Amino acid sequence: MAEFVVTPWEVKGEIDYEKLIDKFGTSPIDEALLKRIEKHTGELHALLRRKIFYSHRSLNWIVSEYEKGNRFVLYTGRGPSGHTHLGHLMPWIFTRWLQEKFDVRLIFQLTDDEKFLFNPDFSLEDTKKFSYENALDIIALGFDPEKTEIFLNTEYIKIQYRIALNVAKKITLSTAKAVFGFKNETNIGMIFFTSMQSAPCFLESERENRAVPVLIPCAIDQDPHFRITRDVAPSLGYPKPALIHCKFFPSLAGGDKMSASKPETSIYTVDNPKEARKKIMQAFTGGQESVELQRKVGGNPGVCSIYQYLYYFFEENDEKIKERYSACTSGAILCGECKKYLADRVEKFLIEHQKKREKAKELLEEFIVRD
Ligand code: TRP
Repeated sequence: MAEFVVTPWEVKGEIDYEKLIDKFGTSPIDEALLKRIEKHTGELHALLRRKIFYSHRSLNWIVSEYEKGNRFVLYTGRGPSGHTHLGHLMPWIFTRWLQEKFDVRLIFQLTDDEKFLFNPDFSLEDTKKFSYENALDIIALGFDPEKTEIFLNTEYIKIQYRIALNVAKKITLSTAKAVFGFKNETNIGMIFFTSMQSAPCFLESERENRAVPVLIPCAIDQDPHFRITRDVAPSLGYPKPALIHCKFFPSLAGGDKMSASKPETSIYTVDNPKEARKKIMQAFTGGQESVELQRKVGGNPGVCSIYQYLYYFFEENDEKIKERYSACTSGAILCGECKKYLADRVEKFLIEHQKKREKAKELLEEFIVRD
């Protein structure tokens, strides 16, 4: 089998998610842990039931602390390299659910510094502009303004910088090279950057001057940053941040990760709903070459981007998704029907989201913190 690569800056090849757990040294979310979560949330989010959030670090500890009355803080982030697409929304929607169910605070980091350093074409103004665009999408998802703070690293740096320095002092160049694959050509800002992504893990502990547990919902490609954070935490006197990892949102071209660099294979939150519809009607499916053949042998939902979209995001009803699966494999339905079903849902979602996104412009200052 072809090797796959997953780092925070590169995702390549066909990803074996179980293998990734071994590679990274994380733990699968098992039934016992799901039960523990369900005890507090009353129900399980579809993303947990379907094992899209499937891996973790120290999540049992987070639940134990919570049960003792020691509430955790959520931390997640976004690298503002362009407009938000549905793949970005997925972990945020889950984060919102966690905030609501556990009634906890959220720290949201926008890494305008990271994307500036990483992308030779971006100015700091570009990544600032995208930060504020992305913030609208975050706010539109309905986070609690009383319990949520969003910041750009370049605008909220005082307290973060002190923490980042303490982290940076503990990380050697050889560790950074081994974890991220940095080369001699890598600019030195990139090498320092991981300590900025670590900073919010310890932010609340610093502010409250006590050990505050932190839970980070994120896509699994971000784990390498936090592996380092966890390694250095004890020597800095902080608790290790816990993580809950998700798989990548599918691309409309088939394959694993929705890529911002191929706009026709992703749905952006700012897409004209009719255009989004067009993208879906042209998406890669698991259909056969002809109607006759499909009726005879059925389609292949396992490789179908339309099915994956429904499974990940747009069909929360477990019965219905099962029915669709068997209707596809038995040849009872054709790709056109599934495309239309999904397109209707995506169109409706975008219309709603875009309304909330407009309203978010007025709420922005309630969420953003600066020095
Ligand atoms: N590096 C992340 C990205 O490129 C952004 C980010 C910063 C982040 N802090 C995070 C993502 C915490 C998940 C959790 O998108």
